[in-house]
Amino acid sequence: MVIAIDGPAGVGKSTVAKLLAARLGYLYLDTGALYRAIAWKTLQSRIRPSDHEQVATLLPATSIHMQFHHGTMQVLVDGIDVTGELRAPEVTAAASVVSAIPAVREWLLPLQRQIGQRGSVVAEGRDIGTKVFPAAPFKFFLEADSDVRVARRHHELVAAGRSGTVEATSRDLSDRDQRDRTRSIDPLVPAGDARLIDTSALSPDQVVEQMIAAVSTGS
Ligand code: DC
Repeated sequence: MVIAIDGPAGVGKSTVAKLLAARLGYLYLDTGALYRAIAWKTLQSRIRPSDHEQVATLLPATSIHMQFHHGTMQVLVDGIDVTGELRAPEVTAAASVVSAIPAVREWLLPLQRQIGQRGSVVAEGRDIGTKVFPAAPFKFFLEADSDVRVARRHHELVAAGRSGTVEATSRDLSDRDQRDRTRSIDPLVPAGDARLIDTSALSPDQVVEQMIAAVSTGS
């Protein structure tokens, strides 16, 4: 069984998905990390992330492996553990750009579905309920006011020792959102059968409680 969690950046998806996976004893699949892994390799290879053709030529020569330990997911690109580098600001920006390339999305699809076949997975991303696991029995789409998302993301960056201005964080989030929502392939939209949760005024635990209630009543 797959539980799909989608939504824009800064909405609390990762926190909630990890908590939910831990509560249910499910695997936590962070699909954004896969787009970040392609972005990492693109930057390493000195290719512009917006160069569709060059990025596409990288793919057949790339191997991505995921390792799951105690609710965390590690990503190996060509045998190198790059997990610690995937949240660097330049990788974040490049991930948003390469994720609009159809060849990248197609290449990552079977990788994500293979993990889903293991069963008992909480998968988090942008197109999980619409494209990766359209038959998932439980789909959640998280939203939050944009100022709340900016404040959360800024807080996270400061906690990670990567502080910038609130204005820069706000610009970054709205640029990414715009790209994710308007790309021609698999844009960020709620699946027709997704349950919408506005997390603006909720703690992560409160969101998880709502999800558990939905899953346990089968609604
Ligand atoms: O969730 P994240 O911030 O780690 O995602 C990084 C980028 O990858 C984000 O800008 C959008 C893209 N992404 C996607 O297009 N589809 C997914 N299922 C997950 C992430």
